[in-house]
Amino acid sequence: MGAARRIWLATTTGLALLLAGGQARSDGLVPQRLACEWLAEPSGVAARQPRLSWIVEPADREARGARQSAWRVLVASGPGLLVDGAADLWDSGRVESARTAEVAYGGKPLESGQRVWWRVQVWDQDGRPSGWSEPASWTMGLLAAADWRGSWIAAPDAGPLPADPKVLHLPPARHYRKPFATAKPVRRAVLHGTALGLVEWSIDGRRVSEELFQPGWTDYHERVPARTVDVTKLLQDATDVGRVAGSEADTDVPRRHCLGATVADGWYAGYVGYGLLVGYGPHRTGRSIYGKTPAILCQLDVEYADGTRESIVTDTSWRVTDTGPIREADLLMGETYDARRELPGWDTAAFVADEAVWQPVVTAAANGSTRAPFHEPGASREVDVGFAPPRDIVAYTAPPIRVTETLPAKAVDEWRPGVHIFDLGQNFAGVVRLQVEAAAGTPIRLRFGEMRHADGRLMTENLRRARATDTYICRGNGVETWTPRFTYHGFQFVEVTGLPPGPVPLDTVTGLVIQNATPATGRFACSDETLTQFWRNTQWTQRANFIEVPTDCPQRDERLGWMGDAQIYARTATFNADVAAFFTKWIDDVREAQLRDGPDAGAYPDYAPYPFAHGKPGAKFGTAWTDAGVICPWTMWRVYGDEGLVRRHWDSMARFMDWRARRDPDLEGAETGNTWGDWLNVAENTPLAFIDLCSHAQSARMMAEMAAALGRAEEATAYRSRFERIAAAFRRRHVRPDGRLAVDTQTACVLALDTELVADAHAAPVVAQLVSRIERNGCRMATGFLGTKSILPVLTAHGHHDLACRLFQSRQFPSWGFEVEQGANSVWERWDSYTKEHGFDGATGGNNAAMNSFSHYAFGAVMEWAFRDLAGIDALEPGYGRIRIVPRLPAPGSNPDRRPIDWVEADYDGPRGRIESHWRRQDGSVEMRVRVPANTTAEVHVPATAVDAVLESGRPVATAAAPGMRVIGLIDGAVVVEVGSGAYRFATRAVD
Ligand code: BGC
Repeated sequence: MGAARRIWLATTTGLALLLAGGQARSDGLVPQRLACEWLAEPSGVAARQPRLSWIVEPADREARGARQSAWRVLVASGPGLLVDGAADLWDSGRVESARTAEVAYGGKPLESGQRVWWRVQVWDQDGRPSGWSEPASWTMGLLAAADWRGSWIAAPDAGPLPADPKVLHLPPARHYRKPFATAKPVRRAVLHGTALGLVEWSIDGRRVSEELFQPGWTDYHERVPARTVDVTKLLQDATDVGRVAGSEADTDVPRRHCLGATVADGWYAGYVGYGLLVGYGPHRTGRSIYGKTPAILCQLDVEYADGTRESIVTDTSWRVTDTGPIREADLLMGETYDARRELPGWDTAAFVADEAVWQPVVTAAANGSTRAPFHEPGASREVDVGFAPPRDIVAYTAPPIRVTETLPAKAVDEWRPGVHIFDLGQNFAGVVRLQVEAAAGTPIRLRFGEMRHADGRLMTENLRRARATDTYICRGNGVETWTPRFTYHGFQFVEVTGLPPGPVPLDTVTGLVIQNATPATGRFACSDETLTQFWRNTQWTQRANFIEVPTDCPQRDERLGWMGDAQIYARTATFNADVAAFFTKWIDDVREAQLRDGPDAGAYPDYAPYPFAHGKPGAKFGTAWTDAGVICPWTMWRVYGDEGLVRRHWDSMARFMDWRARRDPDLEGAETGNTWGDWLNVAENTPLAFIDLCSHAQSARMMAEMAAALGRAEEATAYRSRFERIAAAFRRRHVRPDGRLAVDTQTACVLALDTELVADAHAAPVVAQLVSRIERNGCRMATGFLGTKSILPVLTAHGHHDLACRLFQSRQFPSWGFEVEQGANSVWERWDSYTKEHGFDGATGGNNAAMNSFSHYAFGAVMEWAFRDLAGIDALEPGYGRIRIVPRLPAPGSNPDRRPIDWVEADYDGPRGRIESHWRRQDGSVEMRVRVPANTTAEVHVPATAVDAVLESGRPVATAAAPGMRVIGLIDGAVVVEVGSGAYRFATRAVD
């Protein structure tokens, strides 16, 4: 080679290296997605040292190897102060660290109601600073009980507690009003408010926020969450509605205003769960579980331009009426609205309140006590459903519940004269907006159902005692629109009666999707469209059930935060949405519901909150369900790296483990409690004691891992040794001399392998046993909730990925594909909740139509495997700082029933940013497109038999020049490459 050519080569190679390596450097990092306590712009934060987080992205998304080497946070009392030297609350200074989450605020003490702004600057791997991020803010709530200066107030309520379970008691919503004046120009105004019941605040005729179902559901005797909303603009604006007609100009003072509250029963006083169906609660009515009369508490803190302050609080000067339009308002039963009874302007200062209609309120305590027998399975005790102030008022730590999407109706038909059924095209949870023009007094009745019978009838058997009916009574003056505010339903179809004769436009009803607004994070698609559809179904079903607590189902009279369902699905939930804040709230509910008294003190109950017991008399927990109290915090820690959560719940989890030890001192597996077991298994029952021992072991292992992360070395050792003792006991009791399990069910094998009670070295006989059981069952699962969650991961982990894929792609009953082929657009409680052949009777007949939800996320837990194993996106350490991308391809021809999956695309917006894993098998070769977020390293496993068979962006992987890219070697049929952030395109000849 001539000298000139050598120089040219050297130069171009150098240039290529420079370009590849230089991109991150020249463009730097951009800090973004700023969050406080896992929420964007939260208001009402109670943590005195809130934890901040952000992600970093290279300005050039293609740049490789971008890392954060240091950060600096400024926090100030105004956005204008977020500059060098001016931040009056906190300047962290430059901190050498790659940390981007759980950065605790370390500045001046923050006050109740204070709004603070912050931004962050980071330095990249070469020490180059980024620009400052866009500013973000958070607002503190009222921090101490003493900061609440108002009183709990209520409507006077001397009536008896309804005691007849045969008659639905659905009282009207009440309106509360308090006229007040602002004496001087307003600089800032913040409303802090909460309720026992549901409340919607308004000022001068305008709703204070779009948030629904405030304050949410907790055990109200212990704890009620509050909201803090900046209402400055509402007080400063002289809107048409807010301003007194013909009154002062914008700047004039004093100005008159009115604070309003619309209040309904909600979880506090309304119907909860199956209480009515099975006769629980006061007088067996299933309602007034926490109290008889809703109450409210608020404080509007106004700061004037001259620095003086004033508060408008709930006290006995407020007035209340129950004569308004909302005649019924119950979360389960529905809402009735009589538009003729509207009280125009009732929450404006101009309104003249007729004192005969608007009564003075009383302090909630003044309603006195009301005693009633409270029924639970096999027992009854006397309770007082009079007002009791919650022991604590806390921050709401979940994202708000609100309408997140609008669904236009897809079709309508008149299935009987005057009865129209609208199809919204998707099973979801929420309400409809009704638009109608009819004579005054015309009642329009809306019934909700998930399915229709063969004759077109709305299927309502599975609603059980949830009436799920809304009624609108027309005002009669042109087109009217109405949206209920204190109820929701799980449905796809709406039956409407009472519409005036004539054509019925499709926009008579429009679906409004309601959920906690957890940002979507994942996308999954693969070559088998049926399974792509199944993933969509999990998304819809998650949205329909993540409403205040992870409910089991939204349609029937249940909606309880069932622990078993939540624990098996938690990891899948994290792939579909950012649920860090949602679970933070619910795990507090779980801790609060932990049993305090009796021999089972320390156990976590069947669901949280825990309004009443259910199941066997005296039984309050169930094996594997109770373990959710450990599994859910562990899962959130693994995914989000949230050590604070683990620390907060540590004592509670340790009490739980003490109870588990007390309950089963000889490590035999215990059978006490409720017997949900491997719920909904298909004719293969696994003994409860077996499941219990596995669950105990799993909790012990998780505790050992969390203890180690928290630096609790002794406890880590103790839990590890507990695990070992359980494993030894398990071997003695359940493993036969030939290495197979004495309990011969698919779920038994799955649990033994998944919990590692059968260690890898001894796994082969149990794996063989599992495989043969599946094969003998016609290559079908027989597993219930517990076994189904882990059957595919276990098969994949033990060398039977092709079989796992075959089960995933199966269309036979029971399978995910079967359900989709029967028409599912959501995840069903039973695989055969509906079949084209037998309707609602199940694949083999005999299904109970009442216990047949079409929106039950539990079996959707398979998506954890689809993201982690099939697409191969997994965290190697809590918080996804180190990740692993191991796409697992089923072998060509490995599925006799259909073409094995030959491409997958999975994207996941993880706690450090977007991870992508796309693979495609084509013409004997495999292509992988991988994206790794900044500040992360990934181990990428490229299926290949030799390092030199792998190309990256067209160049041999061994020589491809990318910063931080390193070939580790050939491991288990894959070339393992360690990479930093960036986009990579690997190509290889496939391993067959
Ligand atoms: C729920 C389940 C729950 C179960 C307990 C059912 O009513 O819908 O999902 O886990 O009870 O076995």
